[in-house]
Amino acid sequence: MPIHEIRHPLIRHKIGLMRRADISTKNFRELAQEVGSILTYEATRDLPLENEQIQGWCGTVQVEKISGKKITVVPILRAGIGMLDGVLSLIPGAKVSAVGIARNEETFQAQTYLEKLVPQIDQRLAMIIDPMLATGGSMIATIDMLKKAGCTEIRALVLVAAPEGIAAVGKAHPDVDIYTASIDQHLDENGYIVPGLGDAGDKIFGTK
Ligand code: URA
Repeated sequence: MPIHEIRHPLIRHKIGLMRRADISTKNFRELAQEVGSILTYEATRDLPLENEQIQGWCGTVQVEKISGKKITVVPILRAGIGMLDGVLSLIPGAKVSAVGIARNEETFQAQTYLEKLVPQIDQRLAMIIDPMLATGGSMIATIDMLKKAGCTEIRALVLVAAPEGIAAVGKAHPDVDIYTASIDQHLDENGYIVPGLGDAGDKIFGTK
């Protein structure tokens, strides 16, 4: 199932707070990280485990540890940075691959201006983070880039998703699972998600 809308009460409450027009930069920023953490918890539910024998306080004990691929978190700049600490709070050992995508205002195509991928990314599970999945252009360009670099396991975490973006990513990359706190109604004529959160980058960085 490629789209996972996490309907946990905590996440629904937090997204509700984020929709308030009068929210402060501080509160929006904190909530973006918190919702990022909860999405990470859900998006890592099926990671494989292996057994390990360790020395515990009362002798040998069998414990479990995560096995399989290591993780790289892939924030799409700049708004993706707003979820990064929340994601890393649960997977602190993950390496970070930063990606910068901007829309060319003449061609309206997504253009890459930064591609700082970790070495041997093909051996990692990539978790892309971006608060808003709107048209899907940046997400598709990022997945294209990661696949070109050899990634075979890719997941996307977004705070809010528009049906148009979900459909576009699902069509281009049906193998990528998307985790979101909310599937919203539609895009407006300027490409903003309705009801959405407004401009997530501006709200996280306080630039408006
Ligand atoms: N980017 C945003 O920050 N908000 C939207 O609603 C759509 C794209």
